[in-house]
Amino acid sequence: MQTITVKGGRALSGEVIIHGAKNSALPLLAAAFLVPGTSEIHNCPRLSDVQASMAILRHLGCRVVRQEDVVTVDASAPAACTIPDTLMREMRSSIVFLGAIIARCGEATMSYPGGCELGPRPIDLHLTALRRLGVTVEECHGQICCRAENGLHGADITLAFPSVGATENVLLAACTARGTTILRHAAREPEIQDLCDYLNACGAHICGDADGVLVIEGVECLHGCAHAVIPDRIEAATYLAAAAATGGHLVLRRGCALHTSPVFPALEESGCVIRTCEDGRTTEIRAPERLHRLGTVRTMPYPGFPTDAAAPLLAAACVADGTSVFVESIFENRYKYVDELARMGAHIRVDGRVAVVEGVSRLQGASVACTDLRGGAALIVAALAAHGKTTVTELKHLDRGYEEITACLQAVGADIQRE
Ligand code: EPZ
Repeated sequence: MQTITVKGGRALSGEVIIHGAKNSALPLLAAAFLVPGTSEIHNCPRLSDVQASMAILRHLGCRVVRQEDVVTVDASAPAACTIPDTLMREMRSSIVFLGAIIARCGEATMSYPGGCELGPRPIDLHLTALRRLGVTVEECHGQICCRAENGLHGADITLAFPSVGATENVLLAACTARGTTILRHAAREPEIQDLCDYLNACGAHICGDADGVLVIEGVECLHGCAHAVIPDRIEAATYLAAAAATGGHLVLRRGCALHTSPVFPALEESGCVIRTCEDGRTTEIRAPERLHRLGTVRTMPYPGFPTDAAAPLLAAACVADGTSVFVESIFENRYKYVDELARMGAHIRVDGRVAVVEGVSRLQGASVACTDLRGGAALIVAALAAHGKTTVTELKHLDRGYEEITACLQAVGADIQRE
């Protein structure tokens, strides 16, 4: 079993290159299955979730090749319309393939994506929307069997919640449907815009407005294209949290300051100074010797504070001077990692979706285990701030969403090793 060892207490200083966004690369790879041709996905991060998506595409009959940061997908000859249980279990967000497979093959079968560390992960919003587009859905023995006997047709759909995944599935199913689809109360995360940009570059006709209404005019057929994945705003927020927790000074390159900016107010409230450059790709953070409290952080759909960034910032709040409050409004149970932080001396009280963090002057190194992807990032941030040695295990969670995190942190002065 691999372990990360951190000797904390050192202020980080230097530059970090931000990689392509995991939560954009995954739907983009699913979308490539829609295209009877070849797509090049540039700036594609090296992550286990991306590997899983590539495996699904190969299972579906695609030729998939990675050269450096470019993943080329040739979906000219689909050979299956199912996703095997093993691959579904490996990555629950494989549900985003549903819309693409139905659109391309007329049917799709996959197992129910199991719950995960964040609580149950229902897909009712996905299925309700797909039914409006002409899909019949049968659920039996844990399998979802979908068919579009008469093909897919446009519809006027309003999501009960701006679900990112449901928005993506509607986009993938609607862009080659007969007629026009209006999707209201759609998610407005930057990854949605990135998916629309890719699909439009492939010949789709999608436009959106600032109120979360997407209009998709179905087209006959799509063609391949080359597209670069947007930077990972959650990876960027994680490195900002690491700088904040260690009293450091970091410059993030090749990011997108606008997409990361929803976390700036909490960091500035805690005493960090954040500057962004006119090109919008560079963010600089200078943290105080000791953070003040972060105030109340309430996670919301974009452009609110992102739920995925709460864990790393909560870890920084553990060493702030004062009490910070985190309110998780997106997922049911996003605090599994808190017990691991408590082993390092953090003072956190969790009541349902609310976590009250009483900052301590210092955390102590300890042996901890990742419980989920962003909880694992929180443990790394806490270990960087802690005095003494921390060992982190269950790294498979971390490898889903952070490319080369050990090397990136070593490059900015952290005493961190992976063996
Ligand atoms: C995406 O998950 C991201 N994953 C998540 O990032 C992110 O936290 C989430 O969006 C919110 O921004 C990917 O993009 C691969 P949702 P998704 O559908 O699509 C409920 C990370 O750490 N819901 O917007 O699954 C759901 O239970 C991951 O990178 C329904 O009730 O998120 C949740 O409480 C974690 N019914 C809320 O909506 C549905 O049919 C948000 O879910 C669908 C969702």
